[in-house]
Amino acid sequence: MKLSVIGAGYVGLTTAACLAQVGHDVFCSESDVEKLSKLQDGGMPLFEPHLEDVIKGVRKAGRLRFGSTEEAIAWGDAIFICVGTPPLPNGDADLCAIEGVARAIAKGASGYRLVIEKSTVPVQTGAQLRKHLSVHSTSGLRYDVASNPEFLREGTSVGDFLHPDRIVIGADSPRAAAILREIYEPIIKQSFTCPIHSDCPKRGDPIFLATDTNSAELIKHASNSFLAMKISFINMVANLCEVVGADVTMVAEGMGLDPRIGSSFLNPGIGFGGFCFPKDVQAFIRIAEKSGCDFSLLKEVEKINQGRVERFVEQVRNELWVLRGKKIAVWGLAFKPNTDDVRFAPALSIIRRLQAEGAHIQAYDPEAMEKAKKEIPDVTYCQDAYEAATGTDAVLLLTEWEEFRKVDWSRLATLVERPLIIDGRNALLREDVVSNGFHYIGIGGVSATPKEASALIGT
Ligand code: UDX
Repeated sequence: MKLSVIGAGYVGLTTAACLAQVGHDVFCSESDVEKLSKLQDGGMPLFEPHLEDVIKGVRKAGRLRFGSTEEAIAWGDAIFICVGTPPLPNGDADLCAIEGVARAIAKGASGYRLVIEKSTVPVQTGAQLRKHLSVHSTSGLRYDVASNPEFLREGTSVGDFLHPDRIVIGADSPRAAAILREIYEPIIKQSFTCPIHSDCPKRGDPIFLATDTNSAELIKHASNSFLAMKISFINMVANLCEVVGADVTMVAEGMGLDPRIGSSFLNPGIGFGGFCFPKDVQAFIRIAEKSGCDFSLLKEVEKINQGRVERFVEQVRNELWVLRGKKIAVWGLAFKPNTDDVRFAPALSIIRRLQAEGAHIQAYDPEAMEKAKKEIPDVTYCQDAYEAATGTDAVLLLTEWEEFRKVDWSRLATLVERPLIIDGRNALLREDVVSNGFHYIGIGGVSATPKEASALIGT
């Protein structure tokens, strides 16, 4: 089918590339001219595992092209709106870009179009879109509006799109539902050439959940807010574990063995970040407030999350006493591993807090340093984890990149001023760390000193 995708951010680019991968003829547009020309020249405006290869493959096969919004509107029978909905100062989602696209479609398209909102939008946005298209339509446009929220995670977005747990659509006409089913047929049947796995993980075909537009829109905000709540819950428990002398990793394991709870998203740490959870929780609270519903539960989720940075800085201060003049290594800047994204990254907030008290930061991240430099220029950016740790009073692990687990601890011990690791993600094996003479401080009661090494290794 001829499909258009408007907006080439994480969601748009992954959607366009993967729909082309499963056989559709896709036109992807981007209003940022610099980003568009980079894409047209075969470049990538973001780091996302596998995505560049998929794009190269489908462009070579002639199933993906990049161009202007007007061209995209003229191209596809169905148009996926994947533009950004950043947070406004009051927490509402900014819908300007979506409105702009709606107006362009109303003025530029003729014949039939299925207009699909894929950006994360507040409930009832579909209704607004429908009204706007009819108000501004000048060329006899016939259309349906549908919702198709995405659940992609940065770092695994290609796999998440091609092997989803579920595909959610919100359509208020049988025609719209039928078209969306046809679009996703190859993914529902898992009948496509997978660019990631030679032997795809056997996990049962995705569920195709068709509902009304309002419910589909709410599924997105509710899902993200629930996951954020799970993270704040385990962070809350982690605080208690530190006080009563329990081990949060064991508590999380014990909880997660109950399938009603599930083990995922129970990793305590310095808080959730990224361009989704913080803004989606805020937007959901605002939606509820405007609808007269009490969402104080989510306000607590936000409060607990905002408290993670301060609690971690407090822990660093407790260990280093005076922060002014101290040299501190930071391992990890991205809001999570396998992405170069530093938007709402807890690591950046922690660095700013430490700098405000006069500490000098030596930082390293495998992918996110270029983007971090734009946010916090006055940091010493290093070539690798060892250079960052050289001469420091403490090493802070703030993003759980795999490579930090493979560090040569005996080599590191010769480089640091003080053998102190403060692990904001409980990512490291404390036995490895303390058996090389380091003092290890984790989250939620999983700290250890070199003296305890033999006991730990014995267990
Ligand atoms: C999220 C949702 O997972 C995805 O379905 C949605 O489409 C977009 O938002 P993403 O923002 O890419 O995806 O990251 P995710 O992997 O969910 O992590 C979000 C944040 O929570 C990260 O900062 C991560 O470090 C943190 N996190 C995650 C925890 O602190 N503990 C956990 O157990 C899991």
